[in-house]
Amino acid sequence: MKIEKASPGCGAIVTDVDVRSMSDAEWRSIYEAWLEAGVICIRGQSLTIQDFLRYGQRFGQIFPHLVKKSRHPDHPELTVMGIDARNADGSVNKPVYTRGHGWHTDGPWDPKGCKATQLYGLEIPSRGGDTLFANMGMAYDALPISLQKRIEGLEADYVYGGASRKSADLLEPEDRNLPPVRHPLIRTHRETGRKTLYFNPTHLLRIVGLPDKEATALFQELEAYQIAPGAEYRHKWQVGDLITWDNRCTLHSATADYPIEERRIHWRCTIASEDAKGTLVTD
Ligand code: SIN
Repeated sequence: MKIEKASPGCGAIVTDVDVRSMSDAEWRSIYEAWLEAGVICIRGQSLTIQDFLRYGQRFGQIFPHLVKKSRHPDHPELTVMGIDARNADGSVNKPVYTRGHGWHTDGPWDPKGCKATQLYGLEIPSRGGDTLFANMGMAYDALPISLQKRIEGLEADYVYGGASRKSADLLEPEDRNLPPVRHPLIRTHRETGRKTLYFNPTHLLRIVGLPDKEATALFQELEAYQIAPGAEYRHKWQVGDLITWDNRCTLHSATADYPIEERRIHWRCTIASEDAKGTLVTD
């Protein structure tokens, strides 16, 4: 097995291993590399749904995503991304095609927490459709000390789709007004101890206790530091790529720019956050 850095900022690429039959030592190396790089891609996998879910379970408990319409009918904990991105008349089905576009972490709105997300590339377009990743620890380090001090102790509330409820059309009516979930703007990673700027424009509802005008100004200020120089990695998908990212320390964004006449299909699963005793936690 070979593990290489994908970029100086984040990401690691693993080759010459089959996750179905890897040894415990190989798994430990993958998990360690994942904690360090925030994103890990195992190339060249050939998986059934069960294999995919089994590998995800190594990272933690898997649970169904809030968006019910893209759940696999026999495996609710599996989301199938990209199905019906094109309408019958050939036009773009925007909520599906642009799903995941815009910098975000997954599940800040979910009371179960969201340690990690896993995607497996089944059908990859000939161009476009990359996924961007960025290191949120580097974003924290890039903040001026005065700004770090100002946001220390501040918290934000999150709902699916943020204040505009953008992308809420993917949700069933009963899931559109769930109560927000709160996170600090500065988070300390449970396993690495690394401080990160946990700032998630896509799903942000409000910064707790700040009047709207002040919150918007702070929001704009933070946005300027969100993607630190050198913190980014652009993943160009291949069929058989198996990627897991750490939502506690990386942002990601789909580029939503592939030819609409082609297909981009991934399996996806969501992995809950647990403390050392296996209790689910939101951070
Ligand atoms: C996501 O944001 O969960 C999906 C990213 C992608 O499709 O590239």
